[in-house]
Formats: sequence, C-alpha cells, structure tokens
Amino acid sequence: MSEAAPKAQKLHVVDGPLSRNKLAVLRDERTRTPEFRRAMRELSLVMVAEATRAMPTKSTRIRTPLTRTEVEEIACPVCLVPVLRAGLGMLDGALALLPDATVGFMGLQRDEETAEPVEYYVNLPRNLGDYLVLVLDPMLATGGSLSATLTKLKEYGAAWISCLHAVAATPGVERVSREHPDIDFYAAAVDPELDDNAFIVPGLGDAGDRLYGTL
Ligand code: PRP
Repeated sequence: MSEAAPKAQKLHVVDGPLSRNKLAVLRDERTRTPEFRRAMRELSLVMVAEATRAMPTKSTRIRTPLTRTEVEEIACPVCLVPVLRAGLGMLDGALALLPDATVGFMGLQRDEETAEPVEYYVNLPRNLGDYLVLVLDPMLATGGSLSATLTKLKEYGAAWISCLHAVAATPGVERVSREHPDIDFYAAAVDPELDDNAFIVPGLGDAGDRLYGTL
C-alpha cells in the first residue's frame, strides 16, 4: 500500500502477483478493448475470492469415489450489484465464481461538469438484509457514485456490503469511509490523487469507455 493511502480500517488492498499482473494490463494505454475486458474479468475473479473470505459456510456430508467425507457449502445468499456501465466488466467473472448470486443493477453516470453522480436506472431485489452484497465498480474516484449506491442499497435493507474496485483513489476512499463507515473496500490498488477532471491518477483512464470501445 502506498504511503498516501488512507488508513481506513476496512480497506483491503488485494495486491498479490495475480492482481498486480492484471492491473498492469489494465493500466497500460496500449491495451485494446478485448484484452482490457479479459483482464478486468480475470481481476474480478481474484477480487471476489478475497472479498468472500468471511462468507459463512455450512458442513455437509458427501461421498467421494473412495469414502464419505465432510465438505463445506456456501450458506448465505449473495447479491452482486454492478454500477453501470463499467461495473458490468466485473460481473461475468463474479458470476463465474458465484453462479447462484442474485444480480441487482445501479445505473449512475457522473455529470462531466460537476463530477456528481446522476441516477438513471435502479433495479435491486427487495429485502437485501439477508444478503452479502458485493458492489462491483472498477473505479472509485471522488466517491460520489459509490456513496449514492450505498445509500440506495441501505434503503433496500442491505446491512452487509463489500465494494470491489480495480483502482480506488484516496479521496474517494476517505469520503466513503466517512459517509459509510460500516463498509469494506477491496481494491487492487489505491492511487493517491485525482486530476482537475476528477480522473484517478495514475489510474487506468475511463474504464467504461475502455471496456466498451467508446473512446
Ligand atoms: C465511473 C466509474 C464509477 C464512477 C467513479 O463511471 O465507473 O462509477 O465514474 O467516479 P466517482 O467516484 O467520482 O463517482 P462513469 O460515471 O464514467 O460512467 P460509465 O461507467 O457509464 O462510464
């Protein structure tokens, strides 16, 4: 973790060799859309594996080809919430590991002038209180989009929420930690600052545009 990184107690930096390697591909300006999309999917596998470590399991007995033994099953429902559009780039990887997950959608677009989030689509299951909710968004910049997402999820009853990001910026982590101190963050990297257009520096550019070829 860099020295400029915030000291949020619930910030988990997923910085093993696999995530560093995927992030290297994502940050490189030469990476074209197909490879960018693949690296984002692969990074989300690593992130989901880390972010579900505390998920409860229950024991059950099965037969292997040789004998009876005890194995573990996931014992809580999971709701994945990609923040449109860029969060969709993490959804396929998350569903590969959590095929039974429910999926809710949060449509937000940052106003290009003010950098404030504008809500345009919400489709979430009711009674999120039963779920582990995993918010998927490659970028946490000012924190405005994530803070609005968390407020909305709590209106729907969510009580256990973790947020997964490829890159989180220090100002965004600080803002969301202040406004939602009960949330866990998982980020492959924490970048120190934002530029005058509220883009993360060094960051990886506009994740939505790079995922969907709208540069
Ligand atoms: C980006 C990103 C986050 C948000 C982060 O989305 O995917 O959702 O900005 O910025 P913030 O922390 O300052 O709110 P964007 O609004 O560009 O929409 P897109 O995913 O449709 O490209």
